[in-house]
Amino acid sequence: MDIMHPAAVIGTNAWGSETYGKLVRGSYVDESTIRESVELAKKKDLLIFDLAQDYGFGKAQKMIGEFGTDDIILSSKFTPMKGYKPGQVRKSLEKDLSDFQREYVDIYWLHLPADIEENLGETIELCREGKIRHIGVSNFNLDECKKSKEILDKAGIPLYGVQNHYSLIARDWEKNGVVYWCKENGISFWAWAVLEEGMLTDPRVKTPRSIMKILFNRKKRKLHSLYVLMNKIGKRHEITIPQVAMSFVSSKGIVPICGCRKPYQVEQLYEATNVKLSDKEIRLLEEEADRLNVKILGADMFRFAVRKK
Ligand SMILES: NC(=O)c1ccc[n+]([C@@H]2O[C@H](COP(=O)([O-])OP(=O)(O)OC[C@H]3O[C@@H](n4cnc5c(N)ncnc54)[C@H](OP(=O)(O)O)[C@@H]3O)[C@@H](O)[C@H]2O)c1
Repeated sequence: MDIMHPAAVIGTNAWGSETYGKLVRGSYVDESTIRESVELAKKKDLLIFDLAQDYGFGKAQKMIGEFGTDDIILSSKFTPMKGYKPGQVRKSLEKDLSDFQREYVDIYWLHLPADIEENLGETIELCREGKIRHIGVSNFNLDECKKSKEILDKAGIPLYGVQNHYSLIARDWEKNGVVYWCKENGISFWAWAVLEEGMLTDPRVKTPRSIMKILFNRKKRKLHSLYVLMNKIGKRHEITIPQVAMSFVSSKGIVPICGCRKPYQVEQLYEATNVKLSDKEIRLLEEEADRLNVKILGADMFRFAVRKK
């Protein structure tokens, strides 16, 4: 698998915690089912797992460490929530490595654009020590991406990627030039929440109630005509509505990160990213999404958490 051009990435946000699963997703998925999903992902060459210390209320990273990480690619993050303190990235990475039972992380993202010089400076040091293989930034706007690239270029380390929120109904990072800038510069663009946390799934399939679903249900009704179009396009390619949302992203050369905790979800992600939607299908989907203009997760929704200096 080419780390620069993965077909898709497995999201682990909802792994491990019973409370998180039930509250946010409406159901809990046990460890053996998640383990089965990991094994299937490996068979399908979907080797990258996207993690962060808070995923599954702190359980996801430990879980993957216990499963064994010899034959997979780990993507993990430093989340700067407080004022900068020297050594904070190192300390956080040490915790990650202990969770992963590993000596290094393959891809390490600065999760928010706070104290960029200081946090990237430490990340560069850790990369030189071999504890990090590739460096990326997440939830960064275009100016912040450019600034990060400059810092990394000076250190002789390429910016691996940008990981921002992007989906069929949230294409702001494309409209404001970040996706184009990444392509121009050979930087990977990863889209998180391509299914909008479950909103871009088939409305006819009933799932247990959760906080997310209570928040989204009213908006789901407004997306009716988009679901009809997704269903029509999906039938042509023998894929489901959520798979059209995944395929839409991968067909545009963007890497979809999809929250998978059940084997069928891994299978569907694999199938979807092997389907290429036509330019016409992409245009029709975009036009309908823009016409409806339903916003759920803001493209820059974590801006509030970026501490000002
Ligand atoms: N960098 C960042 O700031 C950031 C922020 C958020 C997320 N992320 C990353 O992005 C990943 C993806 O986001 P997410 O997991 O929150 O949301 P998501 O992938 O948009 O949606 C997950 C939801 O979709 C459902 N689903 C998954 N596959 C499906 C399929 N084939 N058919 C029908 N439904 C399906 C899941 O169902 P179930 O509930 O039944 O499992 C869950 O409800 C995260 O896991 C994380 O790795 C990064």
